[in-house]
Amino acid sequence: MQLRGIMRLARESGTPSGSRPAWDKVIAWVFLTVALGLACASLIIAAVTPAGAGVETATEESQRLAEIHRALGLIEYVIGDYPDAVGSDGEILDSTEYEEQRAILSEVRDILAPEPRRAVSALRGASTVRQPVDLMLLRNMASAQRLVSRHAPAPEVQEILRALWRDVVEVHELRLTPAEMPSLDQGAALYTQACAACHGNDGRGQTEVGLRLTPPPGDLLDARFDETLSPARVFNAVTFGIPGTAMPAYDILDENERWDLAFYVLAMRQNGMGSSPCISTTTEQQEPMQPTADELAGLSDAALTYWLQEAGVNDECVAVFRARIRQQLEP
Ligand code: HEC
Repeated sequence: MQLRGIMRLARESGTPSGSRPAWDKVIAWVFLTVALGLACASLIIAAVTPAGAGVETATEESQRLAEIHRALGLIEYVIGDYPDAVGSDGEILDSTEYEEQRAILSEVRDILAPEPRRAVSALRGASTVRQPVDLMLLRNMASAQRLVSRHAPAPEVQEILRALWRDVVEVHELRLTPAEMPSLDQGAALYTQACAACHGNDGRGQTEVGLRLTPPPGDLLDARFDETLSPARVFNAVTFGIPGTAMPAYDILDENERWDLAFYVLAMRQNGMGSSPCISTTTEQQEPMQPTADELAGLSDAALTYWLQEAGVNDECVAVFRARIRQQLEP
């Protein structure tokens, strides 16, 4: 169609058949053809050549970040579950669990392995600010593995792992906070769809599916999660899953949806306390300032309780205020 159009155009352009073509038109066509050819060639070259160096670095960087986030999730997991593996006197309570924790820590070490090189080049380089953290990270990683291989009691291991966790966040300047204000309604809807089959609508895990799993999903409302479960930890569990268990990774959900879920799980833990009146036997109780969503993301219920106590809330009101804060997020 197009070709015929061009031929017609050539015919109509007034060149009488048999006579010499109008050279200016021929040159124009040759020029156009060459230009088109060049454009096509460069398009083809662009298509077959690997992405430009800048683009490649950006993807590598984001893959690396995903790996680091995964390492953080794993560290949090060991912090939470180590007490189930080793008792307070260093006795092994559950050898399968213990071996799992050791394997997870080796995985963390493998993920953080490029760090020694970074630390050494940081030492040689001009930057002095980050050196101590880089070195601390290495030292804490090594100590954590050493302690675990000696089955040291939980508080010791947890302390070093928390330090390691902070080092990693600091070295990588990580953002473990939601980019947007989480929506609890959205979180509740997602929870019903994606999580309730195993964890139950109430989070207690007493479901047909859940009870058949080893290990079972457990009770998300249990007090053993007071210290460990923050929205950031739930976010990591949902993002990466929990290795060696039925807890899947939800990479099909986008980041905002995973944060909605994370904040919802912490809101769900409050047992409806948010609507109870605060019965204070002493003075009139002022509600303290609401932490921001970014602050809340890193706070476990125990940490939030401490935060409220520090703000002067009396013991009768702490649970009520904590529930209100979890259930009525404010920017
Ligand atoms: C196929 C069943 C299954 C589904 C579906 C599931 N989970 Fe889990 N989940 C588990 C199991 C099993 C564990 C316990 C792992 C363990 O023992 O540490 C768990 C553990 C957890 C924990 C505790 C994490 C920790 O750090 O100890 C959280 C939080 C959690 N799940 C949230 C969710 C959320 C939110 C969803 C939905 C997006 C979900 N789960 C979907 C099976 C499931």
